[in-house]
Amino acid sequence: MDRREFFLGGAAALSVGAAWGTNAFAQQAAAINLNVQNASFDLGKGITHGLVSTVSNAPPPVLRLRKNQLAKLRVSNQLSDYTTMHWHGLRIPNKMDGVPYLTQFPIGPGSSFDYEFTPPDSGTYWYHPHCQTMEQMAHGLTGILVVEDENDPQFDAEIVLNLKDFHLDKNGGLDTPYTKRGAARGGTMGNVMTSNWLQNPTYDAPAGGIVRLRIAATDTARIYRLALSGAKGKVVAIDGHATDLVPWPTKDAPLILAPGQRVDMAIQMPEEGRAVTLNHHALSGSRALAQLRPVGQSLKHQLRDLPALPRNQLPEPDLSAAETHEFLFGWTPEADPQNNGWCGSLGYSFWSINKTPWPGDAEPNVGPLAEMKLGKSYILRLRNESPNDHPIHLHGLVFKLLRSNKREIPQIWTDTAHLLKDETMEVALVADNLGDWAFHCHVIEHQKSGLAGYLSVV
Ligand code: C2O
Ligand code: CU
Ligand code: CU
Repeated sequence: MDRREFFLGGAAALSVGAAWGTNAFAQQAAAINLNVQNASFDLGKGITHGLVSTVSNAPPPVLRLRKNQLAKLRVSNQLSDYTTMHWHGLRIPNKMDGVPYLTQFPIGPGSSFDYEFTPPDSGTYWYHPHCQTMEQMAHGLTGILVVEDENDPQFDAEIVLNLKDFHLDKNGGLDTPYTKRGAARGGTMGNVMTSNWLQNPTYDAPAGGIVRLRIAATDTARIYRLALSGAKGKVVAIDGHATDLVPWPTKDAPLILAPGQRVDMAIQMPEEGRAVTLNHHALSGSRALAQLRPVGQSLKHQLRDLPALPRNQLPEPDLSAAETHEFLFGWTPEADPQNNGWCGSLGYSFWSINKTPWPGDAEPNVGPLAEMKLGKSYILRLRNESPNDHPIHLHGLVFKLLRSNKREIPQIWTDTAHLLKDETMEVALVADNLGDWAFHCHVIEHQKSGLAGYLSVV
């Protein structure tokens, strides 16, 4: 399956994408229908049934929205379990955020929910359920959401990679994607690594062209260590937002992409006959995740001629006036399992924020971890006192990394800060979006065994 077929697999995205050849989208926002349903697909071990997607025979499509233009997405639930949809990284109104019991009631079997919002930022984002999150995400319901910008530079091609694992048995059937042992440590890794549900797929790209590669780490647990071989390039955006602060990764200094995070790379394709490979350089060895094959007569385009990506208008925090909130991420194993109502529970609890394990999405009368006043600046001091990594994600707001006690970090804008073992990071934000914003580790087994909560902007 090449990139074009991948898009064709997502009929909903294609019909909307096609309308964008003109200015049609500016006048009328077409509704995108996402029908959450079971799917079957060959992940490389024969056909796997019982996957979850928005089409019956392919991964969830790449959704293409436009910055500052209204989008309407109707999520219809054709499963026998509840669900919701969350738009990871988008700074949109709270009631469109898709968090069960906090911003909406879970979508029941046979029901639908109309999401309507105007993305304020361009870049690479993604969508996933926030109810029955563990099962539905592990079984495939993660999709990439691209917000296009009318000022985006013209690339010769764009390739979108959704990185995630599947947990399969010998016959290609679905295995349980979580374990008590994994939840208590770094999460349960799958045994089939995929890009767009394919093992090490090959995508064609114009020889000598400049390619935009958008990558999202949507696995429930795996932390990717990425580098490209066979081509020059540069990192042009992290977590949706343009940056030039992140160095081009190498095998020895790969780009760490934790669950929830995204990277955009601009790649200079070589001549025909050469191979370009995206690799995951795990400590235990390297493996190829995807191939880019240069095709055709060389375009002879140069990376240095590529204009910078447009910047999003992000709220610069006033550090001199910022109040500090402290969050401690740690191990508190004595608690009850989460009460998630219709949204599923792992059945055990290990983790906590500020020593308090999240009692569950559906537990009544649980207050916020912190309250922030609309328009004010805050520093969040994020302390990981555990031996495991935690990609800490905040909904609805964007924050800037300030410093770490363990390493030099670039002062990039993000929605997901990856905390290493025993790391303390300070990040800053302006509380400019009203509502209750989920705040949790994006290793889903951690989130669902206590490492979760929410912040209120009032
Ligand atoms: Cu990407 Cu609360 O999630
Ligand atoms: Cu999110
Ligand atoms: Cu975690």
